[in-house]
Amino acid sequence: MGCDLLRPVVVLSALFSVITSFPSLVLSLTPSSPCEFPAIFNFGDSNSDTGGLSAAFGQAPPPNGETYFHSPAGRYSDGRLIIDFIAKSFGLPYLNAYLDSVGSNFTHGANFATAGSTIRPQNTTLSQSGFSPISLNVQFYQFNDFHHRSQVARTKGVVWQELMPKEEDFSSALYTFDIGQNDLTAGYFLNMSTDQVKAYVPDLLNQFTTIIKNINGQGGRSFWIHNTGPVGCLAYVLDRLLITAGQVDKAGCASPFNEVAQYFNQRLKEAIAQLRKDLPLAAITYVDVYSLKYSLFSQASKHGFEQPLVACCGHGGKYNYNRHMGCGSKVTKDGKQILVGKSCKDPSVRIIWDGVHFTEAANKWIFDRIVDGSYSDPPIPLKMACHRPSTN
Ligand SMILES: *[C@@H]1O[C@H](CO)[C@@H](O)[C@H](O)[C@H]1NC(C)=O
Ligand SMILES: *[C@@H]1O[C@H](CO)[C@@H](O)[C@H](O)[C@H]1NC(C)=O
Ligand SMILES: *[C@@H]1O[C@H](CO)[C@@H](O)[C@H](O)[C@H]1NC(C)=O
Repeated sequence: MGCDLLRPVVVLSALFSVITSFPSLVLSLTPSSPCEFPAIFNFGDSNSDTGGLSAAFGQAPPPNGETYFHSPAGRYSDGRLIIDFIAKSFGLPYLNAYLDSVGSNFTHGANFATAGSTIRPQNTTLSQSGFSPISLNVQFYQFNDFHHRSQVARTKGVVWQELMPKEEDFSSALYTFDIGQNDLTAGYFLNMSTDQVKAYVPDLLNQFTTIIKNINGQGGRSFWIHNTGPVGCLAYVLDRLLITAGQVDKAGCASPFNEVAQYFNQRLKEAIAQLRKDLPLAAITYVDVYSLKYSLFSQASKHGFEQPLVACCGHGGKYNYNRHMGCGSKVTKDGKQILVGKSCKDPSVRIIWDGVHFTEAANKWIFDRIVDGSYSDPPIPLKMACHRPSTN
């Protein structure tokens, strides 16, 4: 009996020496230790674009960036995005866009997202349809190129070592994703029915999971994946698509489009569950930003926000949104040139910036609620996103 009592101590001390001699085991044996992500690599659309589309196709005009950066900063918002708050929470600098060749520092990661990006390549140009040619597969080509060429650059001198990530950082980095919304609207803008849009969702997820597998194949292990938001609450959808009275819910959002978003999210969740089986070394977190965004729209005043569906920067109509007079554009009206600027007094109490994108205040509100894991599957906080729960 006395021996039995002693045995756990012996086992524990043996375990301790194993842990200390193999630091990598510490991660799996003590899941309470926070992850130290040295870098973040982000993939997505305008919800997380920190300058990609601006670098390639012209800067997002003022008043974008006004609240936080005090000038345009490549973001379609008055300030920071969720990805900025994610980077900040790890003490990392805000991510530079991979496409931004001027003054970028990629030591702590790179952002491959561009506004208007889709998972599937579109068969239309940016000027025809507004969708970015930098679809998710292209973002992966760019990541792949960056991974290899950054290491070649590092051999060429100290300056490159201070601009490019280390090889080992690619496996300990956090890989973040926020994409899918534009794939859903793309079908509707081509006049497809809801059934036709739903029919290509499996293809979207197939292409999405291929990218995750490719990144895992290059050593990526920690994945943080946002689902897609309630696109039926956004002015650019409400304004453009034909919606009948019976299709509007009590929040004023168009139910069919939100149902498609939820359908996509359910399939995404299932695809991620399968990925966990296929990629036994990966820690993959699914983050339900849909619920938070819908809660913002449907219970705005409870959360301290006003006029949930109305854009802060825009011009005219029920939603202060007109797609021919977008935020920051110069238009001629009654013979006079006007700048479509900020028309709300206080963006800190508004949810939607320009009819399509969220304000910094809304982005911060969402970040504050996803960071502790309460909207995640598995329910682990952001700072634990490198740990794969043993139950998976
Ligand atoms: C683009 O066209 C190709 C060839 O017809 C087709 O396979 C693909 O699904 C189309 N993509 C989209 C997004 O419609
Ligand atoms: C890039 O950023 C890192 C840290 O954020 C810093 O250590 C490094 O000096 C920067 N590189 C240059 C060339 O400024
Ligand atoms: C969709 O339908 C509208 C209204 O009938 C029409 O004006 C528009 O050209 C159509 N768009 C496409 C891409 O077919």
